[in-house]
Amino acid sequence: MSPSVGRSLARESEPGTAELLGSLTLDYAPRSPSLARQFVKIALTARGINAETEALDVVVSELVTNSVMHARPVTSASIRLRLWQVRHLIRVEVYDADPRIPMPRKTKPDDERGRGIYIIRDLAANQGFYRNRTGKCVWVDVNIRLGKEE
Ligand SMILES: Nc1ncnc2c1ncn2[C@@H]1O[C@H](COP(=O)(O)OP(=O)(O)O)[C@@H](O)[C@H]1O
Ligand SMILES: [Mg+2]
Repeated sequence: MSPSVGRSLARESEPGTAELLGSLTLDYAPRSPSLARQFVKIALTARGINAETEALDVVVSELVTNSVMHARPVTSASIRLRLWQVRHLIRVEVYDADPRIPMPRKTKPDDERGRGIYIIRDLAANQGFYRNRTGKCVWVDVNIRLGKEE
């Protein structure tokens, strides 16, 4: 994951440029990546955003899977997903209860794991993270191709 430290989109953007599309609370459970993908689809459709969502689906899956797999909560905390639109960018924010940040791993050809961060990097227009009082937020901007009416 990029070492750049991001801030909440709500704080860093000019007023009126970032629109919150939706927010979802998820358990540390195997079904959460799938629920997150369904949520993204519904959130975009509800706003009439007619876009290619393959890259977004992959990013959401990798981020939520990482929180489920690696961010072990000591309390009954939840994962929180927030989705923003800034023009042609969709920002995915995933908050979890672990202050440790994603760390790229050196992978050998037959390793089954450790590629998620590289996949995200290739799909991201921008990415970063910041720690907060309860853990951290990892965020990724994905450039979506909007539909014909855009
Ligand atoms: N949300 C997270 N919280 C804590 N550590 C994380 C998180 N996401 C990723 N990591 C760390 O970064 C490593 C690399 O992540 P990734 O490239 O997705 O590989 P994988 O998930 O297959 O191990 C993980 O093995 C883990 O140690
Ligand atoms: Mg992973």
